[in-house]
Amino acid sequence: MTNTPPSPHDQFDNKSQAWSARFSEPVSDLVKRYTASVGFDQRMAQVDIQGSLAHADMLASIGLISAQDLSDIQDGMARILKEIEAGEFVWSLDLEDVHLNIERRLVQLIGDAGKRLHTGRSRNDQVATDIRLWLRAEIDISAGLLQALRRKLAALALQHADTILPGFTHLQVAQPITFGHHLLAYAEMFGRDAERLIDCRKRVNRLPLGAAALAGTSYPIDRERVARTLGFDEVCRNSLDAVSDRDFAIEFCAASALIMMHISRLSEELVLWMSPRVGFIRLADRFCTGSSIMPQKKNPDVPELARGKTGRVNGHLIALLTLMKGQPLAYNKDNQEDKEGLFDAADTIRDTLTIFVDMVEGIEVRADAMRAAALQGYATATDLADYLVKKGVPFRDAHETVALAVRHCETQGCDLADLSLETLQGFHSLIEDDVFQVLTLEGSVAARKHIGGTAPERVRIEAQRILDAA
Ligand code: ARG
Repeated sequence: MTNTPPSPHDQFDNKSQAWSARFSEPVSDLVKRYTASVGFDQRMAQVDIQGSLAHADMLASIGLISAQDLSDIQDGMARILKEIEAGEFVWSLDLEDVHLNIERRLVQLIGDAGKRLHTGRSRNDQVATDIRLWLRAEIDISAGLLQALRRKLAALALQHADTILPGFTHLQVAQPITFGHHLLAYAEMFGRDAERLIDCRKRVNRLPLGAAALAGTSYPIDRERVARTLGFDEVCRNSLDAVSDRDFAIEFCAASALIMMHISRLSEELVLWMSPRVGFIRLADRFCTGSSIMPQKKNPDVPELARGKTGRVNGHLIALLTLMKGQPLAYNKDNQEDKEGLFDAADTIRDTLTIFVDMVEGIEVRADAMRAAALQGYATATDLADYLVKKGVPFRDAHETVALAVRHCETQGCDLADLSLETLQGFHSLIEDDVFQVLTLEGSVAARKHIGGTAPERVRIEAQRILDAA
Protein backbone atom coordinates (compact mmCIF):
# COMPACT_ATOMS: atom_id res chain seq x y z
CA MET A 1 0.00 0.00 0.00
CA THR A 2 1.28 3.49 -0.79
CA ASN A 3 0.54 6.56 1.26
CA THR A 4 -0.82 8.51 -1.68
CA PRO A 5 -4.60 8.14 -1.82
CA PRO A 6 -5.56 6.36 -5.04
CA SER A 7 -7.46 8.35 -7.61
CA PRO A 8 -11.13 7.46 -7.70
CA HIS A 9 -10.73 6.46 -11.33
CA ASP A 10 -8.43 3.56 -10.74
CA GLN A 11 -10.19 2.24 -7.66
CA PHE A 12 -11.66 -0.73 -9.35
CA ASP A 13 -9.03 -1.37 -11.95
CA ASN A 14 -6.20 -1.80 -9.53
CA LYS A 15 -5.53 -3.72 -6.39
CA SER A 16 -7.88 -2.00 -3.96
CA GLN A 17 -11.38 -3.05 -2.99
CA ALA A 18 -14.43 -1.81 -4.86
CA TRP A 19 -15.47 0.50 -2.05
CA SER A 20 -12.14 1.71 -0.80
CA ALA A 21 -12.13 5.43 -1.72
CA ARG A 22 -13.63 6.24 1.68
CA PHE A 23 -11.23 4.12 3.69
CA SER A 24 -8.01 5.37 5.18
CA GLU A 25 -6.42 2.10 6.27
CA PRO A 26 -6.40 -1.41 4.88
CA VAL A 27 -7.95 -4.35 6.73
CA SER A 28 -5.60 -6.83 8.33
CA ASP A 29 -4.93 -10.13 6.60
CA LEU A 30 -6.97 -11.93 9.21
CA VAL A 31 -9.95 -9.62 8.77
CA LYS A 32 -9.63 -10.02 5.03
CA ARG A 33 -9.78 -13.80 5.38
CA TYR A 34 -12.51 -13.56 7.97
CA THR A 35 -14.80 -11.47 5.80
CA ALA A 36 -14.06 -13.03 2.41
CA SER A 37 -16.34 -15.61 0.85
CA VAL A 38 -14.50 -16.22 -2.40
CA GLY A 39 -13.06 -19.45 -1.04
CA PHE A 40 -16.50 -21.02 -1.12
CA ASP A 41 -18.81 -18.83 -3.19
CA GLN A 42 -16.73 -19.28 -6.34
CA ARG A 43 -18.77 -22.37 -7.02
CA MET A 44 -21.57 -19.98 -7.94
CA ALA A 45 -19.44 -18.47 -10.71
CA GLN A 46 -21.49 -19.91 -13.57
CA VAL A 47 -24.78 -18.67 -12.21
CA ASP A 48 -23.21 -15.34 -11.30
CA ILE A 49 -22.25 -14.89 -14.94
CA GLN A 50 -25.66 -16.07 -16.09
CA GLY A 51 -27.30 -13.47 -13.81
CA SER A 52 -24.96 -10.71 -15.01
CA LEU A 53 -25.71 -11.48 -18.64
CA ALA A 54 -29.44 -11.29 -18.01
CA HIS A 55 -28.98 -8.02 -16.16
CA ALA A 56 -26.82 -6.58 -18.97
CA ASP A 57 -29.37 -7.65 -21.56
CA MET A 58 -32.06 -5.81 -19.61
CA LEU A 59 -29.88 -2.68 -19.21
CA ALA A 60 -29.38 -2.65 -22.98
CA SER A 61 -33.08 -3.18 -23.62
CA ILE A 62 -33.95 0.00 -21.73
CA GLY A 63 -31.05 1.93 -23.24
CA LEU A 64 -28.96 2.21 -20.09
CA ILE A 65 -26.01 0.62 -21.81
CA SER A 66 -25.31 0.51 -25.53
CA ALA A 67 -25.57 -2.51 -27.80
CA GLN A 68 -21.78 -2.37 -28.07
CA ASP A 69 -21.41 -2.47 -24.26
CA LEU A 70 -23.71 -5.48 -24.14
CA SER A 71 -21.76 -7.29 -26.78
CA ASP A 72 -18.47 -6.50 -25.01
CA ILE A 73 -19.90 -7.78 -21.75
CA GLN A 74 -21.05 -10.97 -23.45
CA ASP A 75 -17.65 -11.53 -25.01
CA GLY A 76 -15.83 -10.77 -21.77
CA MET A 77 -18.06 -13.08 -19.76
CA ALA A 78 -17.63 -15.89 -22.30
CA ARG A 79 -13.89 -15.56 -21.89
CA ILE A 80 -14.13 -15.48 -18.09
CA LEU A 81 -16.30 -18.58 -18.11
CA LYS A 82 -13.69 -20.38 -20.18
CA GLU A 83 -10.93 -19.28 -17.82
CA ILE A 84 -12.89 -20.54 -14.83
CA GLU A 85 -13.73 -23.85 -16.46
CA ALA A 86 -10.12 -24.34 -17.46
CA GLY A 87 -9.00 -23.61 -13.90
CA GLU A 88 -7.01 -20.62 -15.13
CA PHE A 89 -8.99 -17.89 -13.45
CA VAL A 90 -7.05 -16.19 -10.66
CA TRP A 91 -9.24 -15.80 -7.59
CA SER A 92 -8.20 -13.02 -5.29
CA LEU A 93 -8.97 -12.77 -1.60
CA ASP A 94 -8.57 -9.00 -1.91
CA LEU A 95 -11.71 -8.99 -3.98
CA GLU A 96 -13.72 -10.67 -1.24
CA ASP A 97 -16.23 -12.69 -3.20
CA VAL A 98 -17.13 -14.31 -6.50
CA HIS A 99 -19.05 -11.23 -7.64
CA LEU A 100 -16.18 -8.75 -7.29
CA ASN A 101 -13.63 -11.19 -8.68
CA ILE A 102 -15.59 -11.70 -11.86
CA GLU A 103 -16.49 -8.04 -12.23
CA ARG A 104 -12.89 -6.95 -11.81
CA ARG A 105 -11.72 -9.42 -14.42
CA LEU A 106 -14.42 -8.16 -16.76
CA VAL A 107 -13.16 -4.59 -16.35
CA GLN A 108 -9.62 -5.79 -17.03
CA LEU A 109 -10.79 -7.45 -20.21
CA ILE A 110 -13.24 -4.92 -21.65
CA GLY A 111 -12.74 -1.65 -19.75
CA ASP A 112 -15.60 0.81 -19.34
CA ALA A 113 -18.37 -1.49 -20.53
CA GLY A 114 -17.42 -3.75 -17.64
CA LYS A 115 -17.75 -0.87 -15.21
CA ARG A 116 -21.28 -0.17 -16.46
CA LEU A 117 -22.54 -3.67 -15.66
CA HIS A 118 -23.20 -2.93 -12.01
CA THR A 119 -25.69 -0.13 -12.86
CA GLY A 120 -28.94 -0.53 -10.92
CA ARG A 121 -27.64 -3.58 -9.11
CA SER A 122 -25.98 -4.40 -5.80
CA ARG A 123 -24.14 -7.45 -4.61
CA ASN A 124 -27.05 -7.87 -2.23
CA ASP A 125 -29.59 -8.67 -4.94
CA GLN A 126 -26.88 -10.29 -7.03
CA VAL A 127 -25.95 -12.86 -4.40
CA ALA A 128 -29.59 -13.58 -3.58
CA THR A 129 -30.16 -14.26 -7.28
CA ASP A 130 -27.10 -16.46 -7.57
CA ILE A 131 -28.07 -18.64 -4.63
CA ARG A 132 -31.52 -19.15 -6.06
CA LEU A 133 -30.22 -20.09 -9.50
CA TRP A 134 -27.69 -22.45 -7.98
CA LEU A 135 -30.21 -24.05 -5.65
CA ARG A 136 -32.82 -24.46 -8.37
CA ALA A 137 -30.43 -26.65 -10.36
CA GLU A 138 -29.58 -28.70 -7.27
CA ILE A 139 -33.26 -29.23 -6.51
CA ASP A 140 -33.85 -30.50 -10.02
CA ILE A 141 -31.00 -32.96 -9.73
CA SER A 142 -31.93 -34.28 -6.31
CA ALA A 143 -35.65 -34.49 -7.10
CA GLY A 144 -34.67 -36.58 -10.13
CA LEU A 145 -32.48 -38.80 -7.95
CA LEU A 146 -35.36 -39.36 -5.53
CA GLN A 147 -37.52 -40.51 -8.43
CA ALA A 148 -34.74 -42.79 -9.64
CA LEU A 149 -34.42 -44.26 -6.17
CA ARG A 150 -38.17 -44.89 -6.02
CA ARG A 151 -37.98 -46.70 -9.34
CA LYS A 152 -35.16 -48.95 -8.10
CA LEU A 153 -37.12 -49.72 -4.94
CA ALA A 154 -40.22 -50.48 -7.02
CA ALA A 155 -38.28 -52.74 -9.38
CA LEU A 156 -36.85 -54.70 -6.45
CA ALA A 157 -40.30 -54.78 -4.84
CA LEU A 158 -41.73 -56.31 -7.99
CA GLN A 159 -39.09 -59.05 -7.87
CA HIS A 160 -39.89 -59.68 -4.21
CA ALA A 161 -43.64 -59.25 -4.15
CA ASP A 162 -43.91 -62.85 -2.85
CA THR A 163 -40.88 -62.92 -0.58
CA ILE A 164 -41.99 -63.15 3.03
CA LEU A 165 -40.20 -61.80 6.07
CA PRO A 166 -41.36 -60.88 9.53
CA GLY A 167 -42.69 -57.37 10.00
CA PHE A 168 -41.58 -55.89 13.29
CA THR A 169 -43.00 -53.60 15.92
CA HIS A 170 -40.73 -52.74 18.85
CA LEU A 171 -38.17 -54.76 16.88
CA GLN A 172 -40.11 -57.89 17.78
CA VAL A 173 -41.72 -60.16 15.24
CA ALA A 174 -45.23 -58.86 14.69
CA GLN A 175 -46.86 -60.16 11.50
CA PRO A 176 -45.63 -61.61 8.24
CA ILE A 177 -45.18 -59.10 5.46
CA THR A 178 -43.74 -59.21 1.97
CA PHE A 179 -40.33 -57.76 1.29
CA GLY A 180 -41.78 -55.89 -1.66
CA HIS A 181 -44.20 -54.16 0.67
CA HIS A 182 -41.38 -53.22 3.01
CA LEU A 183 -39.40 -51.67 0.15
CA LEU A 184 -42.42 -49.76 -1.07
CA ALA A 185 -42.74 -48.11 2.34
CA TYR A 186 -39.48 -46.35 1.53
CA ALA A 187 -40.68 -45.55 -1.97
CA GLU A 188 -43.58 -43.70 -0.31
CA MET A 189 -41.22 -41.75 1.96
CA PHE A 190 -38.95 -40.76 -0.91
CA GLY A 191 -42.00 -39.81 -2.95
CA ARG A 192 -43.06 -37.30 -0.30
CA ASP A 193 -39.48 -36.06 -0.11
CA ALA A 194 -39.53 -35.38 -3.85
CA GLU A 195 -42.85 -33.54 -3.49
CA ARG A 196 -41.34 -31.38 -0.78
CA LEU A 197 -38.35 -30.45 -2.94
CA ILE A 198 -40.56 -29.65 -5.90
CA ASP A 199 -42.79 -27.51 -3.70
CA CYS A 200 -39.78 -25.71 -2.22
CA ARG A 201 -38.63 -24.97 -5.77
CA LYS A 202 -41.66 -22.71 -6.29
CA ARG A 203 -40.40 -20.35 -3.60
CA VAL A 204 -36.78 -20.65 -4.68
CA ASN A 205 -37.66 -19.74 -8.24
CA ARG A 206 -38.41 -16.04 -7.73
CA LEU A 207 -36.19 -13.21 -8.90
CA PRO A 208 -34.59 -10.87 -6.32
CA LEU A 209 -32.53 -8.91 -8.87
CA GLY A 210 -33.77 -5.34 -9.13
CA ALA A 211 -34.04 -4.98 -5.37
CA ALA A 212 -30.51 -3.51 -5.60
CA ALA A 213 -29.00 -2.83 -2.18
CA LEU A 214 -32.37 -2.82 -0.41
CA ALA A 215 -34.63 -0.03 -1.68
CA GLY A 216 -34.82 -0.80 -5.38
CA THR A 217 -33.31 1.50 -7.95
CA SER A 218 -34.17 4.78 -9.65
CA TYR A 219 -33.45 3.36 -13.12
CA PRO A 220 -36.46 2.22 -15.13
CA ILE A 221 -35.50 -1.46 -14.91
CA ASP A 222 -37.51 -4.29 -16.42
CA ARG A 223 -37.49 -7.02 -13.81
CA GLU A 224 -39.94 -9.20 -15.65
CA ARG A 225 -37.61 -9.38 -18.62
CA VAL A 226 -34.76 -10.53 -16.35
CA ALA A 227 -37.05 -13.09 -14.73
CA ARG A 228 -38.00 -14.48 -18.12
CA THR A 229 -34.39 -14.63 -19.27
CA LEU A 230 -33.33 -16.53 -16.17
CA GLY A 231 -36.35 -18.82 -16.09
CA PHE A 232 -37.78 -17.49 -12.83
CA ASP A 233 -41.52 -18.05 -12.36
CA GLU A 234 -42.04 -14.80 -10.48
CA VAL A 235 -40.39 -11.57 -9.37
CA CYS A 236 -39.90 -10.94 -5.63
CA ARG A 237 -42.47 -8.29 -4.71
CA ASN A 238 -40.59 -6.44 -1.99
CA SER A 239 -37.01 -5.24 -2.30
CA LEU A 240 -36.22 -5.41 1.42
CA ASP A 241 -37.47 -8.97 1.66
CA ALA A 242 -35.78 -9.96 -1.59
CA VAL A 243 -32.25 -9.12 -0.44
CA SER A 244 -32.54 -10.30 3.12
CA ASP A 245 -34.60 -13.41 3.68
CA ARG A 246 -33.12 -16.85 3.17
CA ASP A 247 -36.23 -18.81 4.10
CA PHE A 248 -36.07 -20.65 0.78
CA ALA A 249 -32.64 -22.00 1.72
CA ILE A 250 -33.89 -22.96 5.16
CA GLU A 251 -36.81 -24.74 3.56
CA PHE A 252 -34.42 -26.65 1.32
CA CYS A 253 -32.34 -27.67 4.34
CA ALA A 254 -35.49 -28.82 6.12
CA ALA A 255 -36.47 -30.91 3.10
CA SER A 256 -32.91 -32.24 2.97
CA ALA A 257 -32.99 -33.12 6.66
CA LEU A 258 -36.15 -35.15 6.06
CA ILE A 259 -34.54 -36.91 3.11
CA MET A 260 -31.55 -37.81 5.26
CA MET A 261 -33.83 -38.94 8.09
CA HIS A 262 -35.50 -41.39 5.70
CA ILE A 263 -32.15 -42.45 4.28
CA SER A 264 -30.96 -43.00 7.83
CA ARG A 265 -33.91 -45.24 8.66
CA LEU A 266 -33.30 -47.30 5.55
CA SER A 267 -29.60 -47.43 6.38
CA GLU A 268 -30.34 -48.71 9.84
CA GLU A 269 -32.37 -51.54 8.34
CA LEU A 270 -29.72 -52.38 5.78
CA VAL A 271 -27.12 -52.58 8.53
CA LEU A 272 -29.40 -54.79 10.60
CA TRP A 273 -30.39 -57.02 7.69
CA MET A 274 -26.77 -57.43 6.73
CA SER A 275 -25.66 -58.46 10.19
CA PRO A 276 -24.72 -62.18 10.07
CA ARG A 277 -27.12 -62.66 12.99
CA VAL A 278 -29.99 -61.64 10.75
CA GLY A 279 -28.63 -62.36 7.28
CA PHE A 280 -31.62 -61.08 5.27
CA ILE A 281 -29.54 -59.39 2.59
CA ARG A 282 -26.11 -58.93 1.13
CA LEU A 283 -24.87 -55.61 -0.13
CA ALA A 284 -22.56 -55.50 -3.09
CA ASP A 285 -18.92 -55.48 -2.02
CA ARG A 286 -18.37 -52.04 -3.49
CA PHE A 287 -20.44 -50.54 -0.67
CA CYS A 288 -18.65 -52.40 2.11
CA THR A 289 -15.19 -52.39 3.59
CA GLY A 290 -13.14 -54.91 5.48
CA SER A 291 -11.47 -54.56 8.83
CA SER A 292 -7.76 -53.96 9.14
CA ILE A 293 -7.58 -56.39 12.04
CA MET A 294 -10.53 -58.82 11.79
CA PRO A 295 -10.28 -60.72 8.50
CA GLN A 296 -13.81 -62.15 8.70
CA LYS A 297 -15.52 -58.76 8.59
CA LYS A 298 -17.48 -57.11 5.83
CA ASN A 299 -18.80 -53.85 7.17
CA PRO A 300 -21.71 -51.92 5.69
CA ASP A 301 -19.80 -48.64 5.71
CA VAL A 302 -21.90 -46.81 3.18
CA PRO A 303 -25.23 -47.10 5.01
CA GLU A 304 -23.52 -46.39 8.31
CA LEU A 305 -21.91 -43.27 6.95
CA ALA A 306 -25.19 -42.15 5.39
CA ARG A 307 -26.85 -42.60 8.78
CA GLY A 308 -24.06 -40.50 10.28
CA LYS A 309 -24.27 -37.76 7.66
CA THR A 310 -27.87 -37.13 8.68
CA GLY A 311 -26.41 -35.25 11.63
CA ARG A 312 -24.57 -32.69 9.56
CA VAL A 313 -27.63 -31.87 7.47
CA ASN A 314 -29.72 -31.42 10.62
CA GLY A 315 -26.93 -29.16 11.82
CA HIS A 316 -27.09 -27.00 8.69
CA LEU A 317 -30.82 -26.56 9.15
CA ILE A 318 -30.39 -25.36 12.72
CA ALA A 319 -27.44 -23.15 11.72
CA LEU A 320 -29.47 -21.41 9.02
CA LEU A 321 -32.50 -20.94 11.25
CA THR A 322 -30.25 -19.41 13.88
CA LEU A 323 -28.43 -17.28 11.32
CA MET A 324 -31.70 -15.71 10.21
CA LYS A 325 -33.59 -15.30 13.43
CA GLY A 326 -32.18 -12.09 14.84
CA GLN A 327 -31.61 -10.15 11.64
CA PRO A 328 -33.30 -6.81 11.13
CA LEU A 329 -34.20 -5.80 7.57
CA ALA A 330 -32.57 -5.69 5.16
CA TYR A 331 -29.28 -7.32 4.07
CA ASN A 332 -26.71 -8.06 6.78
CA LYS A 333 -23.34 -9.65 6.34
CA ASP A 334 -24.56 -12.51 8.53
CA ASN A 335 -26.12 -13.82 5.36
CA GLN A 336 -22.76 -14.62 3.88
CA GLU A 337 -22.75 -17.51 6.35
CA ASP A 338 -25.70 -19.11 4.55
CA LYS A 339 -23.66 -20.67 1.78
CA GLU A 340 -21.34 -23.30 3.18
CA GLY A 341 -24.10 -25.10 5.07
CA LEU A 342 -26.46 -24.88 2.15
CA PHE A 343 -23.84 -26.18 -0.28
CA ASP A 344 -22.96 -29.01 2.04
CA ALA A 345 -26.60 -29.99 2.58
CA ALA A 346 -27.14 -30.05 -1.20
CA ASP A 347 -23.91 -32.01 -1.79
CA THR A 348 -24.74 -34.48 0.95
CA ILE A 349 -28.20 -35.36 -0.33
CA ARG A 350 -27.03 -35.48 -3.93
CA ASP A 351 -24.10 -37.81 -3.21
CA THR A 352 -26.10 -39.94 -0.81
CA LEU A 353 -29.01 -40.37 -3.21
CA THR A 354 -26.67 -41.12 -6.11
CA ILE A 355 -25.03 -43.89 -4.10
CA PHE A 356 -28.31 -45.30 -2.85
CA VAL A 357 -29.77 -45.55 -6.36
CA ASP A 358 -26.87 -47.84 -7.21
CA MET A 359 -26.80 -49.65 -3.86
CA VAL A 360 -30.50 -50.57 -3.80
CA GLU A 361 -30.18 -52.15 -7.21
CA GLY A 362 -27.37 -54.35 -5.90
CA ILE A 363 -29.21 -55.69 -2.84
CA GLU A 364 -29.06 -59.47 -2.83
CA VAL A 365 -32.03 -60.92 -0.99
CA ARG A 366 -31.74 -64.05 1.19
CA ALA A 367 -35.35 -65.17 0.96
CA ASP A 368 -34.68 -68.36 2.93
CA ALA A 369 -33.37 -66.45 5.95
CA MET A 370 -36.32 -64.06 5.79
CA ARG A 371 -38.77 -66.93 5.66
CA ALA A 372 -37.09 -68.77 8.53
CA ALA A 373 -37.33 -65.64 10.66
CA ALA A 374 -41.00 -65.20 9.81
CA LEU A 375 -41.68 -68.74 10.96
CA GLN A 376 -40.45 -67.84 14.42
CA GLY A 377 -42.22 -65.59 16.85
CA TYR A 378 -45.86 -66.55 16.19
CA ALA A 379 -46.22 -64.11 13.35
CA THR A 380 -49.62 -65.50 12.38
CA ALA A 381 -51.19 -65.16 15.83
CA THR A 382 -53.29 -62.21 14.65
CA ASP A 383 -54.52 -64.29 11.75
CA LEU A 384 -55.75 -66.96 14.14
CA ALA A 385 -57.62 -64.32 16.14
CA ASP A 386 -59.14 -62.89 12.95
CA TYR A 387 -60.15 -66.44 11.95
CA LEU A 388 -62.11 -66.83 15.18
CA VAL A 389 -63.73 -63.41 14.72
CA LYS A 390 -64.92 -64.47 11.30
CA LYS A 391 -66.56 -67.47 13.02
CA GLY A 392 -68.47 -65.11 15.31
CA VAL A 393 -66.14 -64.84 18.34
CA PRO A 394 -65.81 -61.26 19.70
CA PHE A 395 -62.30 -59.94 18.95
CA ARG A 396 -61.25 -59.50 22.59
CA ASP A 397 -62.18 -63.13 23.38
CA ALA A 398 -60.39 -64.32 20.26
CA HIS A 399 -57.29 -62.38 21.30
CA GLU A 400 -57.36 -64.07 24.72
CA THR A 401 -57.80 -67.53 23.20
CA VAL A 402 -54.83 -67.06 20.88
CA ALA A 403 -52.68 -65.69 23.72
CA LEU A 404 -53.29 -68.96 25.57
CA ALA A 405 -52.42 -70.98 22.48
CA VAL A 406 -49.16 -69.01 22.03
CA ARG A 407 -48.28 -69.61 25.66
CA HIS A 408 -48.84 -73.29 25.12
CA CYS A 409 -46.58 -73.25 22.05
CA GLU A 410 -43.87 -71.54 24.07
CA THR A 411 -43.86 -74.34 26.60
CA GLN A 412 -43.82 -76.91 23.80
CA GLY A 413 -41.19 -75.06 21.77
CA CYS A 414 -43.30 -75.15 18.61
CA ASP A 415 -45.21 -72.84 16.30
CA LEU A 416 -48.97 -72.36 16.08
CA ALA A 417 -49.02 -74.16 12.74
CA ASP A 418 -47.37 -77.18 14.41
CA LEU A 419 -50.28 -77.74 16.78
CA SER A 420 -52.70 -80.54 15.90
CA LEU A 421 -56.34 -79.77 15.12
CA GLU A 422 -57.37 -81.48 18.35
CA THR A 423 -55.03 -79.30 20.41
CA LEU A 424 -56.25 -76.16 18.65
CA GLN A 425 -59.86 -77.19 19.21
CA GLY A 426 -59.03 -77.49 22.87
CA PHE A 427 -58.50 -73.73 22.83
CA HIS A 428 -61.69 -73.05 20.91
CA SER A 429 -64.35 -75.43 19.67
CA LEU A 430 -65.05 -73.31 16.56
CA ILE A 431 -61.64 -74.06 15.11
CA GLU A 432 -61.86 -76.34 12.09
CA ASP A 433 -59.67 -77.94 9.47
CA ASP A 434 -59.48 -74.74 7.39
CA VAL A 435 -57.49 -73.04 10.16
CA PHE A 436 -54.17 -74.25 8.75
CA GLN A 437 -54.65 -72.07 5.70
CA VAL A 438 -54.62 -68.93 7.83
CA LEU A 439 -51.72 -70.14 9.92
CA THR A 440 -49.46 -70.24 6.90
CA LEU A 441 -47.35 -67.21 6.04
CA GLU A 442 -48.66 -67.15 2.48
CA GLY A 443 -52.27 -67.20 3.65
CA SER A 444 -51.58 -64.41 6.07
CA VAL A 445 -50.06 -62.00 3.57
CA ALA A 446 -52.39 -62.89 0.70
CA ALA A 447 -55.40 -61.93 2.81
CA ARG A 448 -54.20 -58.32 3.14
CA LYS A 449 -54.94 -57.27 -0.37
CA HIS A 450 -56.72 -53.98 0.21
CA ILE A 451 -55.11 -50.66 -0.83
CA GLY A 452 -51.98 -50.25 1.25
CA GLY A 453 -51.86 -53.92 2.26
CA THR A 454 -48.91 -56.31 2.13
CA ALA A 455 -50.41 -58.95 -0.22
CA PRO A 456 -48.24 -59.89 -3.21
CA GLU A 457 -51.00 -58.93 -5.64
CA ARG A 458 -51.23 -55.47 -4.05
CA VAL A 459 -47.47 -55.02 -4.02
CA ARG A 460 -47.38 -55.77 -7.74
CA ILE A 461 -50.05 -53.15 -8.40
CA GLU A 462 -48.31 -50.47 -6.31
CA ALA A 463 -44.83 -51.18 -7.66
CA GLN A 464 -46.16 -51.03 -11.19
CA ARG A 465 -47.83 -47.68 -10.46
CA ILE A 466 -44.47 -46.24 -9.49
CA LEU A 467 -42.73 -47.70 -12.51
CA ASP A 468 -45.47 -46.50 -14.87
CA ALA A 469 -45.42 -42.97 -13.43
CA ALA A 470 -41.79 -42.59 -14.42
N1 ARG B 1 -20.34 -12.08 -0.31
C1 ARG B 1 -21.56 -11.50 0.09
C2 ARG B 1 -22.53 -12.55 0.58
O1 ARG B 1 -22.27 -13.68 0.40
C3 ARG B 1 -22.17 -10.76 -1.06
C4 ARG B 1 -23.02 -9.60 -0.66
C5 ARG B 1 -22.17 -8.58 -0.02
N2 ARG B 1 -22.90 -7.40 0.26
C6 ARG B 1 -22.45 -6.51 1.10
N3 ARG B 1 -23.17 -5.47 1.29
N4 ARG B 1 -21.34 -6.68 1.76
O2 ARG B 1 -23.55 -12.27 1.18
